[in-house]
Amino acid sequence: MSAAAPDIPPRLVEELRAARHVVALTGSGVSAESGVPTFREAQTGLWERYDPQQLATPEAFLRDPRLVWEWYSWRRRLVGGAEPNAGHRALAALERLVPSFTLVTQNVDGLHGRAGSRNVTELHGNITRTVCSAERVAVEPEDTDEPPPVCPGCGAPLRPDVVWFGEMLPAGAMELASEAARNSDVFFSIGTSSLVYPAASLPHEALAGGATLVEVNAGPTPLTPRADHVLQGRAGEVLPALVEALRGEI
Ligand code: OAD
Repeated sequence: MSAAAPDIPPRLVEELRAARHVVALTGSGVSAESGVPTFREAQTGLWERYDPQQLATPEAFLRDPRLVWEWYSWRRRLVGGAEPNAGHRALAALERLVPSFTLVTQNVDGLHGRAGSRNVTELHGNITRTVCSAERVAVEPEDTDEPPPVCPGCGAPLRPDVVWFGEMLPAGAMELASEAARNSDVFFSIGTSSLVYPAASLPHEALAGGATLVEVNAGPTPLTPRADHVLQGRAGEVLPALVEALRGEI
């Protein structure tokens, strides 16, 4: 065993080897090691005066579409310059080591797909896509001196294809995630503060269905007392150690 490797409970390895269906719910902590600030820490530099919870709303976009568009443009550039990290890659590897795997993410950065994960449900959309705010159809934004750009079809302002506070999740996404959670044998909650519903209900649905609950997080969350295994640390260190243990390498 490598001295630096975080401890992976042997019982968890046994549970994973016996599992038929494994689900992982991820949050912005998974992308922190890629240099994408977590949602509740995203107030840096020029944007430090703004609270993300005030900008990621339909009301904010109606009030000041330019401000919201520019905030998302900043985040889109950050994401465009980021690379998947060891945690994303370990989740892609885990998918290939178990019979059935569903990755449910609250992240809008698309890094799981870029790391090679296949069965990914994006609960909160994807920041790399742009849609017409009236028709919700995908549109390629043109550069403009007066952002936001507008829809060439109907003239409505364009917006990122993400879910804002108070909005519905993409059709079918939560149903699919709930079903996966209820049918899971092992459920991971990784790098999420477990504060934002409905995503935060998924670990509880998994527990009700009899799953083993594993939390991977840099610190405690409201979910920690409910977890069967708490792996405290960085996702980019804990998850590769877990995959190595599952492969029998440590
Ligand atoms: P948060 O910013 O609320 O939480 C990030 C979590 O990651 C915290 O619990 C940190 O302790 C943990 N963390 C930070 N670095 C980590 C690391 N390297 N490894 C492991 N854990 C780490 O982000 P989310 O829980 O993703 O929704 O937020 C959920 C949703 O709230 C977001 O999708 C967004 C936001 O409002 C919408 O935009 C609708």
